[in-house]
Order: sequence, then C-alpha cells, then structure tokens
Amino acid sequence: MLTTHPLSHTVATDWTPTTWRSRPASHQPTYPCPAALQDTLRALAQRTALVDADKILQLRHLISQAQNGHGFILQGGDCAESFERCSKDATASQLKVLQQMSQVLMHGLQTPVICLARLAGQYAKPRSSERENQGQQTLPVYRGDIVNDSAFTPSARQADPERLLQAYACGASTLGFVRALYETGIDELLKPAHWPTAWIDALPERKAFQRTLQGVQHTTHFMTSLSGSDADRFLHRETFVSHEALLLDYENALTRKVPGLDGWFNLSTHFPWIGKRTAELEGAHVEYCRGIRNPMGVKIGPDVSPDALLALMDRLNPRNEPGRLTLIHRMGADLLRETLPALLNAVTRSGRNVLWLCDPMHGNTETLTCGTKTRRFEQIMREIEAAFSVHREHGTHLGGLHLELTGENVTECLGGARNLQPEDLSRRYLSKVDPRLNHEQALELALRVAHLAR
Ligand code: PEP
Ligand code: CO
Repeated sequence: MLTTHPLSHTVATDWTPTTWRSRPASHQPTYPCPAALQDTLRALAQRTALVDADKILQLRHLISQAQNGHGFILQGGDCAESFERCSKDATASQLKVLQQMSQVLMHGLQTPVICLARLAGQYAKPRSSERENQGQQTLPVYRGDIVNDSAFTPSARQADPERLLQAYACGASTLGFVRALYETGIDELLKPAHWPTAWIDALPERKAFQRTLQGVQHTTHFMTSLSGSDADRFLHRETFVSHEALLLDYENALTRKVPGLDGWFNLSTHFPWIGKRTAELEGAHVEYCRGIRNPMGVKIGPDVSPDALLALMDRLNPRNEPGRLTLIHRMGADLLRETLPALLNAVTRSGRNVLWLCDPMHGNTETLTCGTKTRRFEQIMREIEAAFSVHREHGTHLGGLHLELTGENVTECLGGARNLQPEDLSRRYLSKVDPRLNHEQALELALRVAHLAR
C-alpha cells in the first residue's frame, strides 16, 4: 500500500493543464465563433486567482482527517447557480442554511463539520440530451449560465464565450461577500431569530427536535460569546467552495502554478468534482483532474463496477495520498443496499484512502406527470439512513453528505414536515435544473441525521 504525507506531491511528467484537449470531452458546448472563445480564454487566463492554494491544502488536510473518522463534510447548495441570483442576499441565505445545519450536525454527530458550499462557480450543467423540444421548435439545451441562457429562444440558447468572464466575475463577487460576511456578520445568521421553527409543530417528534434545537442554540450562543478564542474560531469554521469541473476551458484558464509550492492548482475553487456523466477513465475530465493538486470528488452511480472504480482511483490518486479523493455515491434509495457494498469492500480491501460522501439527491429525482422535476423528502432520508447503516455494516465511515438545498422558502421537493404536495410545487419553484430542499426541509434533514446518530 502506498501512502505519502498529505502535503507532499509528485508532479506527473506527462501532464499539463491542456493534455485533456487530446481526449474526448463530453458535455462541452460548441461556440459559433472559435476566435471569440480564444480571445475570452486569453483574458480569463490573465485574471487573478479566485481562491488561495493555502486554503486548498488546508481543506485537503481536513478531508484527510475526516477519512480517519474525525470530521464530517456538509457539501451543499444550488444545483445550478445563476447570474441573476448572484447577490449578497442569496449568498447570505446559502451560508445561513449551511451554517445552521452544520451546527445541528456538529451537535448530533459530536464531530467537527466542514462546510463545503456548491457556490461561486456552480454554473455549468451536464444535460441528458443535446436539444430541447417545445411544441414544434427544437433548440440547443440550456447548459448553465456559464454557457447560455435558459430562455427558450434561439439567441438565448446560443453558447456565448462572454459568459465565461461573467461566471468569473460572479464567482469573484460571491467569494468577496463570503469573506466579508465571515469577518463581520456570520454570528447574526446563527441567532435564534433566523431559525425557522414553526414547521416543527406539525411533527410527532416535535418535543425531541425542539430540545435539540435549544441545545444547539445554547451552545452556539455560548461559543459566540467566547469571541477571539479557539472556540470562536471553531464556530466560525469557514466555508470552502466547490463546483463540478465540467466546462474544461474555464477550469483550464484558472489552473495555475503557485510560487513556493509544487505542481498545479485549480484556483477557481477549493474542491472541484467530476460528475457522474463525465467520469470516463479515458475522458478529458479525468485527464484534467488527475494533474491538479486540489482535493476532489467523483460522483459514483449504481452502474459503476468495483474494477472500474479502482481504476479511476488509481488514475486520480496513483500514490494513494490521504485527503486527495472523495467518492460521492448517488445510488438512489432503492438501489443503495444492492450496489454500494461491493464498492465499499473493493476499496477497503485495496487499502486505498478515500472519503465517502452520500448524495441522496441525484438518484432520487422524478418527473411528475405534469412535467415538473421533483424529489421526495422521505426518499432522500431513506437513502441517507441506508447509507449510514451500510457503511456501519461494512466497517467504513460515512464522512459527509452532498445536498442540493437553498436557504430560501422554495417549493421544489415534496414532503417534509409541511408535507408539500405536487400541487404546491408551482407556488415557488425557482430552480432551473434540479429541485432543492428549502430552508425548513434542510433543517429537518439535519435534525433527523443528528437524531439518527444517537
Ligand atoms: C449535480 O450534482 O448537479 C449532478 C449533475 O450530479 P450527478 O453528476 O451525480 O448526476
Ligand atoms: Co443537480
């Protein structure tokens, strides 16, 4: 078994930030004017980095600790961020729900929780088909705001390279706001007035949940009062950011060398991940990701075999470095028990270092007869419960959750304490891609996980 120190690094000699260009790259747009794309990429390559390499390595260290059972990752945010909603209020709302959930999880799991937001770069989406039909018309599909616009018109759907610079600008302004909020205002978001609680009254478990919430708020208040101390730093554990490394031109342009450190870093985000649809061993996404030093995730669906998984792990982490690789399984509540054990056994037997996360969202998406895409709260919880118990049965550690959620009061997922029904969804359905848990549903999920842990 190969192991190395988490901060050591061997640079692959057959890799550069552009070797992916000789591999098949799926889910990339076609730009009408290649010269305009090249101009934009040159401009992007001149922009300053969005995140620090030191923080990337800090996250990698925290992930290596979580691999050993010390720490839990809460990764969450929008399915697709939009330029229109790149605002201080929307960002504050995301940080609020993630911070509140992480306080609840810390309390229940009795372990540090690391917030990893899907934020400041989650602008590109893989889609199941290239084109979309509406009535008689067929147009290129919406691929996320970094590529085109969601409106169903020919000009909106054309891929526009200017959007790469807009994505960079939105990412930069979001990160600037996150830093400012951590310096000045994050305590405010944790005060009891910002926690919705009325929803709890409808639940049979209300007494136990209320007690837990009171305990959480009590601890949070106490720790906030220790301003300037270690406890205060712990409470303010910062938020790291992540996005799917899908649009490789963007990732490539922000891949840099850093003075004093070996190797290459993707400085657009702390934690890029490879989506389920682009995790082919010989594809461009795996080729790009194998050469950067960031900690990274790979989404694993029910169709991945143990051998294919081990080959992927060897490619992305040939020296079996701790903290480097996170596997995010997204099996679906009905398939998890059938599909996960073989993968857990193969990885454990091979002695490979990995952090396991459960994404209970992407295997549980359904389309209602009216055409609306949704997910059921109860099914999401069922996958989480099954994941905890299958990991326990196999002697592995479930080190975190990967969720699509928002701090806003949307109606996109069914169920939860308010028991949202199909007819409620049209009330406030804002997501342009996948349905997210709303603030109440997200807190309910955190409370249920905290109680599960007891
Ligand atoms: C996503 O996380 O939004 C996504 C597309 O997931 P997956 O790659 O697991 O389908
Ligand atoms: Co999604």
